[in-house]
Amino acid sequence: MPIVNMKDMLNHAYTHGYAVGAFDVVSLDFITGVMDAAERTKAPVILSLAESHFDYFDFELLMAAVEKAAKRASVPVAIHLDHGASLETAITSIRFGCNGVMVDASHHPLEQNIARTRAVRNMAQGCGIPVEGELGYVPGVEGEDAERHPGEISYTSVEEAKTFVERTEVDFLAVSIGTVHGRMKGTPKLDIDRLKDINAALSIPLVLHGGTGLADAQYASLIENGIAKINYYTALADTAGDCIDNNVKAQTRGYTGQVKGVANAIAQEAERCIKLWGSAGRADAVLEKSTPWNPVEHLIIYNTTNADPADDVGMITEGERVLSQIPGVRRIYTGTAVQENAGYKYTWLVQFCHKAVIDSYREHPDHVAFADTHFRPIAGDRVSIDYQT
Ligand code: 13P
Repeated sequence: MPIVNMKDMLNHAYTHGYAVGAFDVVSLDFITGVMDAAERTKAPVILSLAESHFDYFDFELLMAAVEKAAKRASVPVAIHLDHGASLETAITSIRFGCNGVMVDASHHPLEQNIARTRAVRNMAQGCGIPVEGELGYVPGVEGEDAERHPGEISYTSVEEAKTFVERTEVDFLAVSIGTVHGRMKGTPKLDIDRLKDINAALSIPLVLHGGTGLADAQYASLIENGIAKINYYTALADTAGDCIDNNVKAQTRGYTGQVKGVANAIAQEAERCIKLWGSAGRADAVLEKSTPWNPVEHLIIYNTTNADPADDVGMITEGERVLSQIPGVRRIYTGTAVQENAGYKYTWLVQFCHKAVIDSYREHPDHVAFADTHFRPIAGDRVSIDYQT
């Protein structure tokens, strides 16, 4: 069960003055390590997948493992798309199981950032999914030396943040107040006064990107001023890399020997962060205050008036193609009754990620066109019910 609504989770953190770790995962060792740390500390946690890492793993395959790890957890978990570059990636990530999405158009001028973020927000709203936007620019790439990506930091302005949040209606805002992504020399200088003003103006959970490399005391003042989600990757990647280095130096040969201990090293670093950021011991309270993230099964059983069963197959194939692309649809199963004398010969079972999709799917132009042209004219004899599982 413990996939929960990410908005409930972050609102709890924001109102109770702590931050949830959003750890980017790139392999099974990362998933295992982060989940072990969350279980050991009884903390809510966010498993994030960053689009900048998609060259290193198969997104769909890794998401299957992420979702399994989240479902079998005893602590509340949210699954987040980090730095989504397009509306298409956001839709795909929801299909694969993300229940929070970030659209990062922060490198575009304000109006374009607003338009791109708003488009993702409109789509995600129909899927019941909260959205994180970013305003101001946090340079660097997660997991790499910050010096290799020397783009200028562009600090978030309070006035623009108000406009941005009003016009995009994002649920969380990632701010730029002095951090960079990746490995850096020295500790960043943070503009806490700016953060304080942004927080006073917005009163929504704020997000810190570039969580690696801060002094312990810096996290406390960030959280005090509205940071409720801390994105963290490079330090986990470095600790995993060090572990592999040590195995190699110890003359260990072969893959399993060389990655031995990686999950545990990641768990130790994630546990240190979770304790430092105040989310340890919050799992039960978050579970109590959060809506569980349950899919809805949209079930249709029907007969058709087609004389030739080949026409039914054509209609079903077309439906699978069109309907599976609608935002919020996770899977479509179609079937034919096993018993020849069954009251209904065919079924559609369409899995929605959230009950909000019942309405957005019904009204989606592609659904309307398919239903009006291909389905309803021949399938008047049907029963349709939505089940929450
Ligand atoms: P670090 O790589 O600096 O930890 O930042 C991670 C991040 O912000 C991911 O979005």
